[in-house]
Parts: sequence; structure tokens; C-alpha cells
Amino acid sequence: MMMLSGSKGNPSGSPSVKKALPPLFRALQTQLREEYLQASIPSQMKSLRILLKEFIDPYALHSPETQQVLRTLFESTIGLGYINPWLQPPVQFRISFIRYFIKQIESCNLAAAMVDFVVVKIEEILQDWYEELGKLSTAKVQSEPFYRLYDLFLYENENNDQIPIKILETEGGAFVSEGTTGLVTWEASIELSKWLIAIQNSNSIPNNSGLSLCKESIKWILELGSGCGLLAVAGVKTFPKLKKYIATDGSKSTLEKCRENYIVNFGSLDDSIHFEELDWVTDFDKFKLLVERCTNEFGRGLLLGADIVFDKTLIPPLLNLVRTFQDVQTQTAHFGTSLLSCTVRNEGTMAILRKVLEQERLENRTVHSWENGFVLECSLIL
Ligand SMILES: C[S@@+](CC[C@H](N)C(=O)[O-])C[C@H]1O[C@@H](n2cnc3c(N)ncnc32)[C@H](O)[C@@H]1O
Repeated sequence: MMMLSGSKGNPSGSPSVKKALPPLFRALQTQLREEYLQASIPSQMKSLRILLKEFIDPYALHSPETQQVLRTLFESTIGLGYINPWLQPPVQFRISFIRYFIKQIESCNLAAAMVDFVVVKIEEILQDWYEELGKLSTAKVQSEPFYRLYDLFLYENENNDQIPIKILETEGGAFVSEGTTGLVTWEASIELSKWLIAIQNSNSIPNNSGLSLCKESIKWILELGSGCGLLAVAGVKTFPKLKKYIATDGSKSTLEKCRENYIVNFGSLDDSIHFEELDWVTDFDKFKLLVERCTNEFGRGLLLGADIVFDKTLIPPLLNLVRTFQDVQTQTAHFGTSLLSCTVRNEGTMAILRKVLEQERLENRTVHSWENGFVLECSLIL
């Protein structure tokens, strides 16, 4: 690391902090907290890149304004664990995050030094960061599994700590590992979880939705392609009167990870959860039997699927399942509903999805959307 000392200020005469902190800073700070808790790869954290570019003045690293920004960034990430011990991503991740952050500030410093020979002692301005790095470097972490934290704040423990959902995943977010895409959490799951929680908490249903997602009315949920289980954990927590959540996936190892994550978040398995290996293409009869049994036993159901329409060849078998679910629910006058959370990778695939939904007499409306995806609510056209 370069050792530099003393600051002469900005030769270009630009202000120490380029922009006022709020509201852009606040928005980025929230995003940074989310990305940090989800242990995103530091160099891919969009919020961090913009925060460093827009709010750190390389020519005034010692200034009170920059110091305030650096302190706030510490508090939004590493410092979270001091306020709430549950908000700590894996130790190895925290170490690489701090190292990356220090490196970025060093580069700023170096760039400024080349222009006006400004010399700053990085250890002085990043004291908190170095101290934390020292502590973490001596921690025993060899056996710690990789996990991400989803700060959906669903519940509090006896100390009033707000507990995030913790999901064990494949490190680094490899799209395919052990032959499945289910060992990482996909955006469509995060978005659907957030949306379900939001409408449950507000006790209201969006105007454009025919959903009857009142806390009491949904008695069971079947999820297709559960992956490593974020939606299953969020679903069980969101619908406290739920009698059964059936998490299904075509991959054995994914389903095992889902079970593990349920235990991580609830302490043990219980009657409200059931795991079932179920392939959309080959297990139609098994699916139908499950739906009939649950409908008879529990009543109104909800069918969920997040990021399962990733290939157009899957649309016919998947919609056959949706259609069957809606048929069984309608025939027994329970009128359950289906929610498909889709990430748009290919516009053509989404167009086919909507077309086939109509052909299947399944009314579909968008109840929630984000930058590159949406949640479709499907119900039978009577
Ligand atoms: C993109 S991942 C989405 C996982 C999870 N829903 C999420 O959003 O994080 C797709 C999931 O569908 C499962 N899957 C893929 N093809 C399947 C099939 N034919 N039958 C059942 N599950 C399948 C994979 O194992 C994987 O868990």
C-alpha cells in the first residue's frame, strides 16, 4: 500500500463533497446495505461504485464532508453488526469487502497524488475499517458455510432484534452448480417475497388484483421450483395461519438445500412444511394428486413459482400445472390463485407465456413489476 501524508486540497477547486448527501445518497445507502447483506461480489456492487464515484472527493479525503461519507458507508455495512448481531454476512465476505473498499480509496488517493502530489495516510482516514479487518483476520472461519441475508424484517426475537432471513447458497452466485440453477436465490424470488410481505403487512390488496390474499383465506401453498428456499421461508412467515407449505423442486440437491434453509430459519422442521421432489414435465399425476388432497383437506390454496419460466419449452408443462391447480380449486369453489414471478431475459418467451395463458383460458394480470421482471396473477376465466 502506498504511504502518503498531508493534504493540499483540490487543485480543480471543486467542492469537497460533489453532491448533497440526500436524497440520492440515502437511496444508494439503502441499496448498499441490501447488497452487502446479500454478500454480493464487492466489485459488482452497483451502489458502492456510484457512491465512491459521486461522493468521495479524492482531493479532500481528510475533509469533514468526506470523513462523514466514509463513516456513513461504514455504518451501512460493517457497522450494522454492532447494532444488530444478526446483520453480519460471512466473515470471509466481510474481509474481502473491507479489502476491496480500502483498495478503492487507495486508488482515489493515488489518482489525486499524481495530479497535485497530495499525500494522505490511508490508515488514518480508514481507521474503523482497518481495525475491523484486524479483528476479522484472527476470527476462526474455516468451517463457516456461505450464506446470504435477506433483510425483509419479518420477525423479531425476544431482544427485539429484527432477524433477516438467512439462506445458505453456493458461494459467488454461480448460476449452475451441481447441475441445478436452484442453489442460489434469484431476483424473482426476492421480489415476490417482498411483495407478499408488503401486501400482508398493509392488509390491502392492489386495486388491479383479484387476489384474496387476506391472512386468513390462504390455507395452503404449493411452490414450483423452490430452489434454496427464500420464498418458502418468507411464505411460512408471511401467512401465519397457513396449514401447509409444499416446497417442490425437480432437483434432489436443491430440495435438500431448501430443507436445510428451513431449519436454519425456524430451528427445526414442523407440520407446516413438506418437501416433495416434483418434475414439471414428468410428474403431472403426482402434482394433481397433491393439489386434490390439499384442496380437500385445507381449502383455498395458492400456487407460487419464481423464475421458473426461463425457457419456452417449459411453458406448456408449467401451464398445464397452473391450469390443473385452478381447475381443482374452482370445481371445489375455493377459488385459489396462482402467482408467477418472472425475470425477463427474453421478451419472446414472455410473449409466448401470455399467449399460452390466454389459450388455456387463464386470465393474467401484472400485480407487481420491477426493472426487469413482473409478477403475474393467474385465475380461471369462468
Ligand atoms: C432459476 S431457478 C429458481 C429457483 C427459485 N425459485 C428462485 O427464484 O430463487 C429454477 C428452479 O427450477 C428447478 N427446475 C428446473 N427445471 C425443473 C423441472 N423440469 N421440474 C422441476 N423443477 C425444475 C431448478 O432445480 C431450480 O431450483
